[in-house]
Amino acid sequence: MYKACMKASKSLIRDFGEIEKLQVSSKGPGDFVSSSDKKTEKIIIEELLKAYPDYGILSEEAGLINEKNNNNRWIVDPIDGTSNFLNGIPQFAISIGYEEEKQIKNGLIYDPIKNELFFAEIGCGAFLNNSRIRVSKKKSLKNSLIGTGGPRSTSKIKNEIFKEFVKVSNVVDIPLRKYGSASLDLANVACGRFDGYWQRELNYWDIAAGIVIVKEAGGFIDYFNDEDNGSKKRNLIASNSLIHEELIKMLKKNIEKN
Ligand code: IPD
Ligand code: CA
Ligand code: CA
Repeated sequence: MYKACMKASKSLIRDFGEIEKLQVSSKGPGDFVSSSDKKTEKIIIEELLKAYPDYGILSEEAGLINEKNNNNRWIVDPIDGTSNFLNGIPQFAISIGYEEEKQIKNGLIYDPIKNELFFAEIGCGAFLNNSRIRVSKKKSLKNSLIGTGGPRSTSKIKNEIFKEFVKVSNVVDIPLRKYGSASLDLANVACGRFDGYWQRELNYWDIAAGIVIVKEAGGFIDYFNDEDNGSKKRNLIASNSLIHEELIKMLKKNIEKN
């Protein structure tokens, strides 16, 4: 997992350098981004399959590989934060989670620009590079720094999502953060930069690695609906545990069902 990620990140960093050049050229980044996404994914998948030929893989662009093996499965997002990448903004990551019998066991999120590697294994704690990380100790939502994201352009619940932004904004002293990379948002909760984060309409590959990293850092992961805790895991709330009740009360009241 680590080897696959590091190999892929080299090509990603090179491509990001190109994007910065294309950004100021008349051609613009265009299709370059999707090819970069696919190239990164190809390297990751090749490396994972070399080490574990029989394991299943669910990856954003490639879909399902070795579909029959869903007891041992990698969940891959080759670039999480594509719009940032496309616009030359250094806020994107490679995210790889490992799932066994439907439970995420390990997670790795790598920010190649800051050279920050977030990693966790169930029962072993969470780490940023070689240092143990823990969630923040803030106790009230009012003093907290909260991240969020979305809505998607195709979302049918945009207004409800905007209502949530307003609702939480009215309680917190520090304005909400919206950085455009769900995996890094979760990593930020895990290492205490954010006190909480929520977002609707996510995909499993955005958050699989982040879920175990937040939990192992002492944080709490929750879902808006019970069915979110199934394979899709689309609507998620993450926090330092201490502000969880306050945050969840505010959000869960907003949309009854979606
Ligand atoms: C996106 C990012 C973004 C989130 C979107 C995701 P992508 O992933 O995580 O922060 O708001 O919902 O789709 O498309 O850049 O891999
Ligand atoms: Ca993503
Ligand atoms: Ca992606």
